Amino acid sequence: MKMSICHFRLWSSLVLSLILWSDTITSDAAIGSSYLRKIREVNKLGPYLGIVVPNMFEMDPLLRSDRFVPDSRTTSLDIMGRRFRVGKVGHQKVIIVMTGLSMVLNAGITTELLLALFEVDGVVHYGIAGNANPELQIGDVTIPRYWAHSGLWSWQRYGSGPNDTLAQEPDDDSFTREIGYLRFANYSTKSSSSSESDNFLNSVWYQREEIFPVDGSPEVRQRIFKVPVDSRYMEVAESIERDGVALARCVSWTACLPKAPILATVEMGVSGSVFVDNKAYGEFLNSEFNATAVDMESAAVALVCYQQKVPFIAIRALSDLAGAGEGGSSARSDEADALVHLAAANAVRVLIKFIAALASW
Ligand SMILES: *[C@@H]1O[C@H](CO)[C@@H](O)[C@H](O)[C@H]1NC(C)=O
Ligand SMILES: *[C@@H]1O[C@H](CO)[C@@H](O)[C@H](O)[C@H]1NC(C)=O
Ligand SMILES: *[C@@H]1O[C@H](CO)[C@@H](O)[C@H](O)[C@H]1NC(C)=O
Repeated sequence: MKMSICHFRLWSSLVLSLILWSDTITSDAAIGSSYLRKIREVNKLGPYLGIVVPNMFEMDPLLRSDRFVPDSRTTSLDIMGRRFRVGKVGHQKVIIVMTGLSMVLNAGITTELLLALFEVDGVVHYGIAGNANPELQIGDVTIPRYWAHSGLWSWQRYGSGPNDTLAQEPDDDSFTREIGYLRFANYSTKSSSSSESDNFLNSVWYQREEIFPVDGSPEVRQRIFKVPVDSRYMEVAESIERDGVALARCVSWTACLPKAPILATVEMGVSGSVFVDNKAYGEFLNSEFNATAVDMESAAVALVCYQQKVPFIAIRALSDLAGAGEGGSSARSDEADALVHLAAANAVRVLIKFIAALASW
């Protein structure tokens, strides 16, 4: 099992390398081969823990932390618009990469590149998220057991109801009514009785992702909605939750959160290429999927790692209430900005604690 996966990874690296560098190899062989050599040199010192982070403001507190030490030989490799930073967090060798915003094009592709090019035996993803769970507050850090892509929908035609078959539902197992749906008429503001109101947008039905795991047959799809994080990583997360992690509570001498933030393992996080600043939708995500963290990348990273059979976990600090905050978008933007930075710093504290605990697990 392990061997075949290693072989696959090796082959996928080679194949991908050929694809990536075919241009440069034909036009300028030196660029391609010198890069391959550098990647090989980095890999010789592996394996690494991959650290995948969406944005610069989330990566910065890690790079500035005294726990992070860049590698003295190769501090970073720039490949296809991504910078892969090599170094150590504590005693753990790491490769850190920033994906940019959103699911497939950025988070998914960057994670796939990381796994294909580098000797990575696990991935920790971290960043900030919206909070859909009324039991938690801004500044808290969550580690969900499952991640789901909540942005893959079958949008039902007007006139059809929950008992009517969806388009393409009978043909194969493409679309399903099993996961749940959002009925737009339920959210009308003009009608007093939502069950009587109607809406041309009708309903959207949540769908499972189509995946091609490394241990399956290529071109034979499998499907998944709730992607579990690695069970060993989750045990480590639970252990640091029990121990507690010291988290930042104040953004200035005078502005502090009402309660000291906590680390909480939770059931579910959801991601989609949509920024959620809408209370009703946040509440729907919580009631329908038991979602706590709502973000734009984690499920893509989870899906890539799940398919490649690489252990994965995501740490997401809550930085806003996904539209449910007092004042909503009229909340003072300097305050919102300060909370984003506090949350990012807290995510990094948990990340560092997690990596240390993983080493001794
Ligand atoms: C759907 O079917 C179920 C079971 O037959 C029924 O109880 C329910 O009223 C139907 N719903 C609608 C909206 O027709
Ligand atoms: C929509 O509202 C009706 C009536 O309140 C409720 O029974 C139903 O569960 C809601 N459905 C969705 C998908 O939100
Ligand atoms: C919902 O998630 C919370 C933790 O986030 C968990 O305690 C609870 O059991 C979950 N409920 C269900 C129905 O899964």
